[in-house]
Parts: sequence; structure tokens; C-alpha cells
Amino acid sequence: METDKSIIIGSDHAAYELKEKIKVFLIEKGYAVVDAGTTGNASVSYVDYGKKVAGAVSQGQYVKGILLCGTGLGMSMVANRFPGVRAALCSDIFSARMSRVHNDANILVLGGRIIGDILAFELVQTWLDTGFEGGRHLDRIQSIDD
Ligand code: RB5
Repeated sequence: METDKSIIIGSDHAAYELKEKIKVFLIEKGYAVVDAGTTGNASVSYVDYGKKVAGAVSQGQYVKGILLCGTGLGMSMVANRFPGVRAALCSDIFSARMSRVHNDANILVLGGRIIGDILAFELVQTWLDTGFEGGRHLDRIQSIDD
């Protein structure tokens, strides 16, 4: 198990450049970032990278991950197939915060063709800085996997 300051990130080509910027942002914040790809602008399937990140989180190798594609939709669909993964597609700060407080989201999904760089950084920061409330929400998230 990695420490809480480790995070795995992945994207397809549509959000490759935003992924690279988020990596720099996270490293500057002291995170150890593991990049699951993609590694350039060439067209790839979001499914392959979604599986890498969601699989690693599902298996407990990383507590948290970040996935990006053009809209975030495909990555969300892939990631939420994995047991124990709660992937939250967010484009506003309130949702990013509540995905942690109520849903204990362990993967943040962003749409690189939807949001700008500064909003993306704010979403990442908010998501990482917010804790799970537990209580009645623990029963609810546990029952997702039942
Ligand atoms: C790639 O063109 C695009 O389909 C992908 O990035 C994503 O938006 C899929 O959901």
C-alpha cells in the first residue's frame, strides 16, 4: 500500500496535456505521482488507461487515482466497473468536495475538453484536501459493493 501522498494518474490522448500539467501541480504539492500513461498526443483508447488506474486502486496498490479523457465519461464508465472503485466525474468544486464527504470517491475523473487548467487544479486540490464524513455514508458506500 502506498502512502496517502502517492497517487496514480492516467489519461487518453484527449486529456494528455492536462494530465501532464496536473502531474507538475501534484509534484509541486509533494505528491509522488505514478503515471499510467498515455505518453503523447497519439490517439489511444481511454479504456486501456482507465483499466490500469482503476485496477490499481481496486487492488489497493493506491488509495487514490485521477483519470482524464475528453469528457470524463468513458473513464467514469470504465473505472466504476472495478470493485471498490468509486469514481467521481467532477467539473464543479461543490461536487468535488461532496464526492469525498459523502461518497468517499477514490478516483477523481476530469474532462480535459470540458474544463480549463485552473479549474482542474482547483478541483484536484479540493478533492485531495477533503475527507470522508463516514457515519451513515459509510453504510451507503459499503452497500454499493454488496
Ligand atoms: C476521445 O476522442 C474521446 O472519446 C475520449 O477522450 C472520451 O471523451 C470518451 O469518453
